Amino acid sequence: MMAKTKLTPVHFFSHGSTMMLGEESGSAAYWEECGDEALANNIKGVVIMGAHWDCLSDKVQVATNPSPSKSPVAYVHPSKYIDYKLNPDLSTANRCISMLRAAGFNCEGNPTFDWIHDTYLILIRMFPSGCPPTTIISMNARFDPHFHLKIGSTLRSLRAENYLLIGSGGAVHNLYRNKWSSMLRYRDSFAQEQPPDREMLEFRQAVQDVMENNSGPELRRGLTRLMKHPQFRDAHATDDHFMSALFVAGAVGDEEDRGVGGRLMAETWELTNMCNSQYTVGEWVSA
Ligand SMILES: [Fe+2]
Repeated sequence: MMAKTKLTPVHFFSHGSTMMLGEESGSAAYWEECGDEALANNIKGVVIMGAHWDCLSDKVQVATNPSPSKSPVAYVHPSKYIDYKLNPDLSTANRCISMLRAAGFNCEGNPTFDWIHDTYLILIRMFPSGCPPTTIISMNARFDPHFHLKIGSTLRSLRAENYLLIGSGGAVHNLYRNKWSSMLRYRDSFAQEQPPDREMLEFRQAVQDVMENNSGPELRRGLTRLMKHPQFRDAHATDDHFMSALFVAGAVGDEEDRGVGGRLMAETWELTNMCNSQYTVGEWVSA
């Protein structure tokens, strides 16, 4: 029995390839279920860290473009996203900037940033009939797990105000190890002609073990430690798609979060070696 909390749950979603926007999958169905649940619980807004936007030096930025465009996505018919209206939440963005600055971050708004599919793919899938007010937090290109964990812990208190915090990245996400031919030749990213490589299965299991068997500070330690896992570099050729897992760990890994564990709720393999695991940590109190 999971401990009850008055704080909103936090999601770590693996967005996978761009085809996850246009094709049906168990993950996509779960994203929509989470969106429905969030709306039923009257969330104030979404605060999301993706995997495609990072800042140099010691900087972190928050999206403050009042009318962002969408960067185009390959292998998806434009009708799946072109008309979807983005809803940037500038007041919450400015609040996040203040909170992050007060915590010592070199943080600023970015008034020209256009949104990328790592975040809007998830938003479209979760909220097909309209985007809630949304704030996007950048990563930092040094990809320090503790830095990203601290971003999450700094914004954690927004959960008490009914904001939904989401990390959009990947559990196993190494583009160099993906087998692309079925997607390039047949527009099919789900074919799985061969089983995944052993390293991918190992790391996928390690993520599940950490997520489901830890809570509070141990969840933070476990997710941080995964970057030293022997198969981490096989599962993630670059660190970018794992950073938002650390953001999630910060957002839901406080002493107060003890007993609030993660659950693997859906999973979709793509391109043989990419594992799109969908985790939710915590639950809605009223649910
Ligand atoms: Fe991505």
